[in-house]
Amino acid sequence: MSEKKNNQVSRRQFLNYTLTGVGGFMGAAMIAPMVGMAVDPLLKADSSGDFIYVMDVDEITEEPQRKSFSIEQQDGWYESEAERTAWIFRDENGDILALSPICTHLGCVVDWETGNQDNEFFCPCHNGRYDSKGVNIPGTPPTEPLHAYEYRVEDGRLYLGRANPRGGA
Ligand code: FES
Repeated sequence: MSEKKNNQVSRRQFLNYTLTGVGGFMGAAMIAPMVGMAVDPLLKADSSGDFIYVMDVDEITEEPQRKSFSIEQQDGWYESEAERTAWIFRDENGDILALSPICTHLGCVVDWETGNQDNEFFCPCHNGRYDSKGVNIPGTPPTEPLHAYEYRVEDGRLYLGRANPRGGA
């Protein structure tokens, strides 16, 4: 009789252990990803310093070429892709320049040789003009040169980083 009672108790305990174990496992399985999502962005390094491949160096000409590329940007816990564009060319010394197309006046997009002058960048919004190196031409609305991308060359490939101001003309 007491043996049977012991068996019933141990069956109930077994059931309790099993249900507790399964419940605990399911709870951990649900909570672990949430904790991971909450902590992950805090642990990740800032990706704004990344360099992105844009083109091969031997394709760079003295005539500016417009190239687009994507960067991954992190805004808190939100990750997205953002499109960037650069005007890429070599100056008369053979140095590489990669310029942001964002007009430094009010942020319109500049184009190459679409104004009345050859060999200039032109902003159609307020007739902003920049010389062939992207330096603003005095007397037109922009007050500073087009920003320049940081770049690296590795194995004949051009990688761009962030675009920085170059100082006023
Ligand atoms: S936004 Fe380019 S000249 Fe005004």
